[in-house]
Amino acid sequence: MTNQALPWKKLIVALDLNSEEEIDEVVKLLAPEKVKFKIGSIAFTKFGPELVRKFTKKGIDIFVDLKLYDIPNTMKETASIITEMAAWAFTVHTKAGEEALIAVRDEVAKCAKEKDIRKPLILGVTELTSATASLAEVLNLVEVAHAARIDGVIASPQDLQAIKAKFKNALKVITPGIRSPLDEKGDQKRISTAKTAFSNGADYIVVGRPIISRKDYLKAAEEVLSY
Ligand code: C5P
Repeated sequence: MTNQALPWKKLIVALDLNSEEEIDEVVKLLAPEKVKFKIGSIAFTKFGPELVRKFTKKGIDIFVDLKLYDIPNTMKETASIITEMAAWAFTVHTKAGEEALIAVRDEVAKCAKEKDIRKPLILGVTELTSATASLAEVLNLVEVAHAARIDGVIASPQDLQAIKAKFKNALKVITPGIRSPLDEKGDQKRISTAKTAFSNGADYIVVGRPIISRKDYLKAAEEVLSY
């Protein structure tokens, strides 16, 4: 029995693995807790859209993290294909600019309506959590997401409070860079524990290696959420 008082539904587990058996095992163990899963460039490059469809067909929430960054037409055409996969959410770079984000937003709405599929959340990447960036730079990028009226942003735990203070609930904030005091930092620079991230207003947290590099995925996830 897992501790049901923990915020399982706000956990997104990054499936940064290149073994389909391991990916299946993580999903099998954690899907019953109603967590969400992120398929990023590692698993997507290896297994393609079929991996996304395999899970979305079963009603599992998949976040397609390909961090689209291109001219508006290329971004919106790609966004439409991701929408057809019935993804729960996907990422674009806010640095692509307001025009590109609006093109993506309009295309996703059109595609979801025409095909009668759930509209995925469009999440804007600000600065990568492995990079050092000033708060002012991050807030400028969040402003682009806000102006384009997309659903949310990806930001480091350390920028959370300032983003929530300025933009209130107009944007969801999804936070990677989560580590318990027991975990290795790896390449992440701007980190916090899960509890601190939630108390600072994170709508969801993204956790990869602290869970997927352990043998007991369920216990590892429970541990991450407990700190
Ligand atoms: O293993 P770890 O917990 O560091 O994984 C974090 C995940 O979040 C990775 O899949 C990484 O690509 C992603 N991510 C990030 N920083 C961002 C956006 C996404 O770490 N700004």
